[in-house]
Amino acid sequence: MANSSFIGYNIDIAATLLKKGEAVAIPTETVYGLAANALNTNAVAKIFQIKQRPTFDPLIIHLPSFDKVYEFVDHVPEIFEKLASKFMPGPLTMLLKKKDVIPDMVTSGSPFVAVRIPSHPVTLALLEKIDFPLAAPSANPFGYISPTTAQHVADQLGNKIFYILDGGSCDVGLESTIIGMNPEGQIEVLRKGGLPIDLIRAEVGNLIVRDISTSNPEAPGMLSSHYAPKVPLIVGDINQLILKSDLNRTGVISFRNFVPQIPTKHQIVLSPSGNFMDAARNLFAGMRYLDSCDLDVIYAEFVPESDLGIAINDRLRRASQR
Ligand code: TXA
Ligand code: MG
Repeated sequence: MANSSFIGYNIDIAATLLKKGEAVAIPTETVYGLAANALNTNAVAKIFQIKQRPTFDPLIIHLPSFDKVYEFVDHVPEIFEKLASKFMPGPLTMLLKKKDVIPDMVTSGSPFVAVRIPSHPVTLALLEKIDFPLAAPSANPFGYISPTTAQHVADQLGNKIFYILDGGSCDVGLESTIIGMNPEGQIEVLRKGGLPIDLIRAEVGNLIVRDISTSNPEAPGMLSSHYAPKVPLIVGDINQLILKSDLNRTGVISFRNFVPQIPTKHQIVLSPSGNFMDAARNLFAGMRYLDSCDLDVIYAEFVPESDLGIAINDRLRRASQR
């Protein structure tokens, strides 16, 4: 195991380590991933070990293009091909019936494997240099906020991995939207994410959306304890919430406006102009920052429940569940 990992831009170093069966942190447009050869169970085991992730929580495999998917899955429903042509590469993950080459460890025993084509140019170039898919969960310790910069990865997993491939800060900032097909042939959204649900609905018509409250054994990523900072986070009307707290030890995550009573250094305004893409990009880094500020509590407000706001609110809700 490395003493401390090296952050760098060298795709060849990352490829070499991955070919040797090591785990390497990689940039994607959504969040940073902790990647390893999905076809090598020893390599995949390292991911679970480094993240302290329970083995019942399956991993997404990442491929450079959708035509490669047929090597690893049995059947792609026509509607998924349509969605792939529209939204891949991009922040969409689909569950497909796996072939035997995908180890059961990757899918935690499920016959379905989660497949994603990331759009980050550095990771696409990396995927082109190797001849295996990369299994990669978000590169955070299990249960904590996903990393959106190389430094975030180094801060938490730096002493456990050899190399962090730096691709700058993530453009989308929220994990991918995960979809599957239920036995009735309906598309289900298993995790709200970086691809707005409305865009998917526009292609498929009817769509079922799973909520955190829904018991959902197929997607343990739906566990509500995910994405939580260490400082308690409460979502509600910030102006009401701050009435009963020590203003100097209170953090705030608001959508558009500063709260005059709270020190500005303890505030994250997600997007002064009210832009969802900016807000999504800033959310996790903002939570991390406030989590490092020695505060008693973080108060946050929901953003409007539409477009990417749906996934932003989902992450706020999860961050508030302890
Ligand atoms: O944007 C993303 O999806 C990022 C980047 C790195 O690609 N990855 C990511 O992985 O968020 P992870 O492991 O943190 O969350 C993926 C979730 C898992 O928690 C699991 O619930 C669900 O996807 N998942 C993966 N494979 C599955 C499967 N075969 N069946 C059902 N759910 C699955
Ligand atoms: Mg994760």
